[in-house]
Amino acid sequence: MTTTETPAPSPEKDPAGKRRFVLAVAGAALLTALVTALLTNIFQHKQEAKNSYIRFVNVTEETTDPAPWGVNWPREFDTYKLTSRPSRTRFGGHGGSEALPREKADQSPWLQRAFAGYAFAIDYRDRRGHAYMLADQEMTRRVTERSQPGSCLHCHSSVIPTYRRLGEGDVMKGFEALGRLSYAQAHAEVVKTGSMNPLIEGAAQTARHADGAHPVSCVDCHDPATMQLRVTRPGFIRGIAALMAHLGKPDYEPNRDATRQEMRTFVCAQCHVEYYCGPKTTLFFPWTNGLKVEEIEATYDATRFPPEGGEKEGHRFYDWKHAETGAELLKAQHPEFELYSQGVHARAGVACADCHMPYERQGATKVSDHWVRSPLLNVARACQPCHAVSEDELRLRAETIQSRNFALLERGGAALLEMLGAIKDAKAAGAKEEQLAPALELHRKAQWRLDFIAAENSMGFHAPQESARVLAEAIDYARQAEITALKLLPKAAGAPK
Ligand code: HEC
Ligand code: HEC
Ligand code: HEC
Ligand code: HEC
Ligand code: HEC
Repeated sequence: MTTTETPAPSPEKDPAGKRRFVLAVAGAALLTALVTALLTNIFQHKQEAKNSYIRFVNVTEETTDPAPWGVNWPREFDTYKLTSRPSRTRFGGHGGSEALPREKADQSPWLQRAFAGYAFAIDYRDRRGHAYMLADQEMTRRVTERSQPGSCLHCHSSVIPTYRRLGEGDVMKGFEALGRLSYAQAHAEVVKTGSMNPLIEGAAQTARHADGAHPVSCVDCHDPATMQLRVTRPGFIRGIAALMAHLGKPDYEPNRDATRQEMRTFVCAQCHVEYYCGPKTTLFFPWTNGLKVEEIEATYDATRFPPEGGEKEGHRFYDWKHAETGAELLKAQHPEFELYSQGVHARAGVACADCHMPYERQGATKVSDHWVRSPLLNVARACQPCHAVSEDELRLRAETIQSRNFALLERGGAALLEMLGAIKDAKAAGAKEEQLAPALELHRKAQWRLDFIAAENSMGFHAPQESARVLAEAIDYARQAEITALKLLPKAAGAPK
């Protein structure tokens, strides 16, 4: 979990010792004066925060189009629009403004076979800027060639007014209702409510968009009345409440209980998280046992599908059956919030927005950069406010972490392929289902861990040591599965005893 403390400024810059000495000699009267001054100051700032926006245009809960917001807040709108530009680094998203981003398997070819039998084997690409989120979802072959649920739109469109309309005023009810529709039906509903996407043109701006529908917009992260940060996504609101209950805080409501610094992470954790969004249950974030890879695994292992065809108990949760081994596997999805939570930056209270939406001073005001992208393209503002070392040195530190992580990930991929080969051989040699079962359980564990780090988008940066731990476990489980399968081969095939 994110801690509530804000990051400490570096000791060189903060003569804290001196300040403590001054305070110690100061009398109680001075202290009272200081406190009063501070309170007045805070009060004034709060008033400023409330009143500092001159509104030319009224925006409401229904304004999913960012353009009217842009009239009131042009600086934020101008940078928000830049998310339609390509941004590329060594490991960051390889998206362009014209063509679709590259396939993930171009970088890690083993992914193709790892997803055998699943839609991710036919089309699975790098991410790109927020402006494309809805267009890329509409275009993926996972949607055009497979049936998908309406819940996909939860994180790819400015969907809340649609939920409200379908739920007759009740967002949670509408969320459940949209989730029961097919992707095509749900998309038609979103288009009805939304407004058009002015950010992208040409091929990506399809005819359907002329009627409406929009990617993540101002209203998804800001309260239109106060401009305060807020979260809107039902999946997150339920998920974080479940996590907090697990941590001993029942009835948690992020918009009421979170600190401002936590909100600077939570707005992103509405979407950059592991989730389940299949046809059999409502979309959920699997956080009831915590955010670590094995805690999420425990949640899935304990989850049952609704019973079918006379079953007493529903089947244990899984995403798909591997086409070669028959193992019932879990697919990991972009667990940025979960992995970040295990890292030293989260510990120190650094938020997603600190690195991905750094402040820029414009005259007397500080403006948050709404061009959400790789911080490595912006080291001066993203990292140097806290790290007093050169840009090159910071980039090198990050890239060293990422290259090491990539090397370990590829070893994991190689181990996974050898495991698949061994299980396939054992099946071909006539091993029975119950004999294979232990190897298939190990396959599930190995692939879940490997995929967790492969699907996370920072290439290990968000929590380097945790990433290495998870990859080491993945490799160990894959090798255990391989050995278990090899033992089922006839002795003549040279299997170890
Ligand atoms: C301490 C700074 C820092 C914090 C805090 C942080 N990130 Fe990152 N993030 C990075 C770096 C560095 C990368 C690697 C970028 C690259 O490879 O170009 C990255 C990569 C990413 C990417 C992929 C970017 C791309 O261009 O492909 C996403 C998405 C992401 N982070 C989301 C998040 C979310 C969500 C949070 C909060 C839960 C978060 N990050 C917190 C520094 C940070
Ligand atoms: C909980 C939020 C969430 C839900 C639900 C969700 N997505 Fe995404 N999706 C994201 C995020 C965040 C990214 C960007 C990070 C990445 O690509 O890993 C993304 C990226 C994508 C991409 C671009 C990269 C790729 O995978 O090829 C496609 C296409 C996509 N999603 C399709 C879907 C489909 C289809 C569904 C429904 C089955 C879905 N999404 C449901 C959050 C979500
Ligand atoms: C409503 C869901 C949603 C929210 C909220 C959201 N994202 Fe994203 N984000 C996505 C999706 C989906 C994509 C991938 C779009 C695509 O590939 O077409 C993405 C892409 C990205 C990228 C890759 C950009 C690039 O140029 O390659 C970064 C970095 C990122 N998000 C960080 C963040 C941060 C930081 C926050 C919070 C300030 C945030 N996101 C909030 C859904 C979301
Ligand atoms: C993915 C979430 C997200 C979206 C979408 C978003 N913002 Fe923000 N916005 C933030 C965050 C995070 C901050 C920093 C708030 C803080 O530090 O308290 C912020 C701050 C602001 C501020 C306060 C001043 C500043 O720059 O720090 C304004 C005004 C603002 N945003 C306007 C907009 C407008 C206009 C849009 C739509 C064009 C928009 N935002 C879209 C997350 C978002
Ligand atoms: C808001 C302050 C803040 C920002 C912004 C920030 N950092 Fe940090 N960073 C920290 C703190 C605090 C630590 C932990 C130092 C400690 O406890 O010894 C840390 C630790 C690190 C570490 C070593 C720890 C590790 O295992 O992850 C690296 C590398 C690092 N930061 C790189 C970066 C880069 C690159 C960026 C920009 C993308 C960045 N930081 C942005 C505050 C920040």
